[in-house]
Amino acid sequence: MAQTTSRSDHAKKRRWMSNIFSAKEITAMEPRVQERVEVLLRSVKAKSRGGPVAETDEYGFGKGWRHDKNGRVVFDVRPWLNMLSYDAIAAMFWSETYGCLERGSDLVPALRSTGNRDNVHAMASFHGTTGFLIPLAHLTAEWDAIAKRIFRYAKGSQRVDDFGSMVRYLVTRRIESPPKTPDLFSSIPVTPTEKRPYPVPLAEIMAECTTMLDAGNDTTQTSLTNALYHLSDYPRTQDKLREILRSALPAESRPVASYQQLQHVPYLRAVLDESFRCRPPVNFGLPRKTVEATTIAGHTIPAGVTISSPLSSLHHDRRLFSEPQKFIPERWLPDADIYPDEHHNLKDFVHPFSLGGRACIGRNLAYMELSIVIAALILEFEWSLDDSVHGGDKGIEIIERLNSNPKELWVHARLLVV
Ligand code: HEM
Repeated sequence: MAQTTSRSDHAKKRRWMSNIFSAKEITAMEPRVQERVEVLLRSVKAKSRGGPVAETDEYGFGKGWRHDKNGRVVFDVRPWLNMLSYDAIAAMFWSETYGCLERGSDLVPALRSTGNRDNVHAMASFHGTTGFLIPLAHLTAEWDAIAKRIFRYAKGSQRVDDFGSMVRYLVTRRIESPPKTPDLFSSIPVTPTEKRPYPVPLAEIMAECTTMLDAGNDTTQTSLTNALYHLSDYPRTQDKLREILRSALPAESRPVASYQQLQHVPYLRAVLDESFRCRPPVNFGLPRKTVEATTIAGHTIPAGVTISSPLSSLHHDRRLFSEPQKFIPERWLPDADIYPDEHHNLKDFVHPFSLGGRACIGRNLAYMELSIVIAALILEFEWSLDDSVHGGDKGIEIIERLNSNPKELWVHARLLVV
């Protein structure tokens, strides 16, 4: 769906894909996210003390954690948020238990086109894939094919094969052993039925599942890392969110609440939306081709020209937003008195999920997952940045691949006993 340039093909695919993301399906997936978040909390608790989560934990002393100058344990939480996002999408879509969080390792099964089975590192597979393919995406189709032949033995090519083999494993296993309880994959017409005698061909299922494994994990881990970075950088905002969550949620729903409960906490949504404004996860200019001569912002663009606008240039425009570089969730609250004249600008110009017929189809799923994870992390721990990495003007280092990926997030997490 995401790859097709034909409008009618896209619309057709989008119609059957939209069943997957209905409110009913998303609600049904909540327990799978909540279960993973319980494990995330246990893993973070172990890491906050410098301990391994298991013998297989790949984030030991030096690589994954160390002491800061005050003797506190600091650790890089980014891979843990990424392992959560992989575990969660695998559970929701293919009923697959990756179990990365309890193993402290992102080694997951892959099935090669030769039929061989092995394990690959999920994070390196996807990040190596996007790091390799995105520069090639600027080439014409002919040059792209030539470049892929020239670089077929390069590490990037190997990563592309690894990621494809992860998807092949998930789809093959899921078709061979369907789960007892429906998952998101259950909405894909795989076998002929009376209503749909011609099911979706396997190649197409593989393509859509590739998008799901990519879109469902990387934007989510990027958003989680950014939100936690902002909350750690703005301790008063973090405290305020924690207080609001404590008073909004009954004790038995803390720290892992339901999305239904969290939807009634506007400040949590404001935190997520402000984090999207400050650091949109998909920040490269999404390309669109003009079908006829068009005037945009006073410029006449002929037909057949590829145009795009990187989101963060809009999100940080001083003509639209006061103090655009600052993380101020209050600006999103209609009843707060901060920058009330700019509310319509937030609505009109902040679009982390894009707009129109190709806007993100997983938006509601993403808000569900992000809300549950961020609320739980803030209720359970007090977060502060490791200044030696993120202090002063250093901020958070971003690697531009397909998404604007935070490289690492070094934090101290203090377990809260309430
Ligand atoms: C915070 C998380 C997310 C962000 C910021 C995000 C953002 C985006 C953006 C900007 C697009 C491109 C739209 C365009 O070309 O105009 C997109 C497309 C898409 N996203 Fe997401 N996304 C997120 C999470 C998800 C999740 C969780 C899934 C599914 C599990 C998902 C599935 C998709 C799909 C399938 C498309 C292609 C839609 C189409 O071509 O019609 N996304 N997303």
